[in-house]
Amino acid sequence: MTQEMLIKNGDIFTAADSFKGDILIRNGKIAEIAGKISPPPGAEVIDAAGLEVYPGGVDVHTHFALPFMGTVAADDFESGTVAAACGGTTTIVDFAIPSKGGSILEALQAWHQKAAGKAVVDYGFHMAMVDYNDKIAAEIPRVVKEGITSFKCFLAYKGAFMVDDAQFLEILTAAKNNGVLVSIHAENGDMLAYLMKHLIEDGHTGPQYHPVAHPASAEGEATHRGLVLARMAGAPLYIVHLSSNEGLKEIKAARSRGQLVLAETCPQYLLLDDELYLQNGFEAAKWVMSPPLRDRAGQNKLWDGLRDGFIQTVATDHCSFNFKGQKDMGKDNFLKIPNGIPAVGDRVNLLYTYGVKKGRISRNQFAAVTAANPARIFGLYPEKGSIAPGSDADLLIMDPDRKWKITKENSHHNVDYSAFEGFELEGMPAVVISRGEVVARYNKFTGAPGRGKFIKRRKFDTGGDRENAA
Ligand code: URP
Ligand code: ZN
Ligand code: ZN
Repeated sequence: MTQEMLIKNGDIFTAADSFKGDILIRNGKIAEIAGKISPPPGAEVIDAAGLEVYPGGVDVHTHFALPFMGTVAADDFESGTVAAACGGTTTIVDFAIPSKGGSILEALQAWHQKAAGKAVVDYGFHMAMVDYNDKIAAEIPRVVKEGITSFKCFLAYKGAFMVDDAQFLEILTAAKNNGVLVSIHAENGDMLAYLMKHLIEDGHTGPQYHPVAHPASAEGEATHRGLVLARMAGAPLYIVHLSSNEGLKEIKAARSRGQLVLAETCPQYLLLDDELYLQNGFEAAKWVMSPPLRDRAGQNKLWDGLRDGFIQTVATDHCSFNFKGQKDMGKDNFLKIPNGIPAVGDRVNLLYTYGVKKGRISRNQFAAVTAANPARIFGLYPEKGSIAPGSDADLLIMDPDRKWKITKENSHHNVDYSAFEGFELEGMPAVVISRGEVVARYNKFTGAPGRGKFIKRRKFDTGGDRENAA
């Protein structure tokens, strides 16, 4: 049976255009966009007069149900994607992470099992490459065929996920040959390990020392090195969770040399700062994440970088741990505090209020950094991230004037605190639509359990014989 829905009178914003009009949805896809469309018989009609219509959000950095630092992330694919849906995000890309020396195909199967029947919005996976050997090399084409067209390398977490430069070069080359985009966690793991060791030896065990062990210089160094190695391999590079101007300067320098580098930041680096580590005793553990929060001056540079197009995406790096029972594993030693914060439900709302409403980015830029750019970069466009005939009917209908604030109570994250507690918001997702189904209305989940679908993503155009190869 044909399912139709008509969204009338909305102010529609994509990364490229702004216009008023009607959107006809048929069987989960956008069928037609025009100034005026008459409702087909039996179609559900949503009056979006006074509301703004955006492509559904695409968050390309989550960690649901991740085993990490002696525990497992508190949000699984169900609670994480319910929070995403209520917060205007209709697609997520999570990281499959194998054990050191383990099979990437097995890691992929494990992540499918975590997500299938649980996710309520559509999802894909990146593959973390925590090792490189003949078995992994042989598995790469199969993983790519399964729709995993991006890898993440950690230049940090020494002794756990970190790869060395030789492994990184092998991965870059294999990725380039298979149409895979490589991303990096850009912190120098040896610098961090040295600082951690000496801080603990000197009795500096509190969470306020976490940022001391993760200086911005370590991000600058790893970003620089990652880019030098990518240049040598002739491969493009995507920098995840950029937190500092030290990293941003390296990205700008690489761009000015003609290198293809793409960058992501997160709401926490745009809106929270390192004072939180000094003012909160052990509560500071709530914001222990890697990289850590930085100072206000650096934050302003990130906003500038976002506005000026040096940073293409805002993702969350959602990796949630309860304060009681998980973060407090590190009450005597900050190295044992599981790293990460909850944010997947907050990203779109924070960017709308503190980006669009504060005049830092335009509505089209908002659509670009929250949806279109991540979809393009990660092989999801135009099904995701766009509003056009033929694309999936994934839409965020925003009530632009609704005032509210973030609290632990109104958050859908399965965790005992909010990293953005008390943040005032102006604008609320009024209706969130995923493949033509209303999955949330005014912060209430209305979708069916487990309805999310796995998406095989397209390959990245790695550029073949790019002339920027050293
Ligand atoms: O603190 C963080 N970011 N935890 C998640 C793992 C990562 O580095 O992305
Ligand atoms: Zn990371
Ligand atoms: Zn992450």
